[in-house]
Amino acid sequence: MAIESILVTAASGNIGKRLIPLLLSSFPSAKLVLPTSSASRLASYTSNPRISIEEGSITDPQWLEHLCTSHAVNTVFLNVTGTDELFTAMNALDSFQRSGTVKHLVYVSGAGDWTSPAGIQALFERHTAAHVLVKTVVEQKLQYGGFHFTWTVLGPTLFFDNDLRFPNLLKNGYYDIPLGSAGVSRVSCADIALAAVKAIADGGKTLGGKKIALGSLQQYTDVETAGLWSEALGREVRIRAANVEGWESFEVASVALAGKVWGREIALMYRVFAEDGWGMSAEEYAFQVQVLGKEPERYRDWVVELAKGEKDGMESARSCEASG
Ligand SMILES: NC(=O)c1ccc[n+]([C@@H]2O[C@H](COP(=O)([O-])OP(=O)(O)OC[C@H]3O[C@@H](n4cnc5c(N)ncnc54)[C@H](OP(=O)(O)O)[C@@H]3O)[C@@H](O)[C@H]2O)c1
Repeated sequence: MAIESILVTAASGNIGKRLIPLLLSSFPSAKLVLPTSSASRLASYTSNPRISIEEGSITDPQWLEHLCTSHAVNTVFLNVTGTDELFTAMNALDSFQRSGTVKHLVYVSGAGDWTSPAGIQALFERHTAAHVLVKTVVEQKLQYGGFHFTWTVLGPTLFFDNDLRFPNLLKNGYYDIPLGSAGVSRVSCADIALAAVKAIADGGKTLGGKKIALGSLQQYTDVETAGLWSEALGREVRIRAANVEGWESFEVASVALAGKVWGREIALMYRVFAEDGWGMSAEEYAFQVQVLGKEPERYRDWVVELAKGEKDGMESARSCEASG
């Protein structure tokens, strides 16, 4: 299948900003269609003749269908967030089906077996976080929906970038998220973008109907995570404890950052990760390496690199103060 026109949602987001340059270089004759609620977020691409920035709401199914037909979109990268994730994703899938132009879709979910009866039971027994549970519904719709297009699901684990969502880590040497002792796998958004490109290039031929777990085989505990940051920054980093007080105070911090609805939701999700862990099997890891054509980026390397930039920045701020 020739990759002619690729529609990418959340292009300005964590994955999107790594994905767009990679798509441009990997598919030199493809056109990119970027729906966005705010065109200014994608201002850096406005002069690129291969990119169409379309301002509107991806919650509007008629508009999405129109984008597909008017740009002859044959490939979609679907990344959905928000409290309306279920409505948006289902209407979007239906729009792609109606368009008749879409031949392959890559969907961003989360790592895990979320479609077998045992997998679904395990997920629903433990999770209450809606933005986790919605993913299994979308994955099942892809499996049973009888779509004309082929699809591949990406299953990332915890993004490296999440570490920077709370301001305390670099400012106060305090890691806000109680990661607990079971351990979580970590993934770089660059690797998620690379997996998306591989799945798009494949066009459903060998990766169609498959889910690719993405991230480290190692599951990092709270102690290990704080230890990595302490070592890299050269000063002590403490991490919020995964105990009653820790969960209460984390929810307060989470609400302050993201509001009441998301604040609770995020706390619910992390609590399960802290107690059960989150990661992948050795077979899933090997499949990821095969798809990426390399080992995934290492969390430790990312921490070291980021801490180095932070230290360099502090050094230059100090020397400015001294000379000023
Ligand atoms: N963070 C993690 O550790 C992790 C792990 C596994 C899976 N995931 C999943 O990865 C996805 C997030 O990926 P990301 O971090 O790359 O995205 P992101 O950075 O959160 O994407 C933000 C962009 O998505 C669009 N968006 C936001 N709210 C929306 C809404 N209600 N409806 C439609 N579009 C909306 C907006 O773009 P425009 O305004 O330009 O349209 C926004 O700029 C989520 O589905 C999440 O559950 C995350």
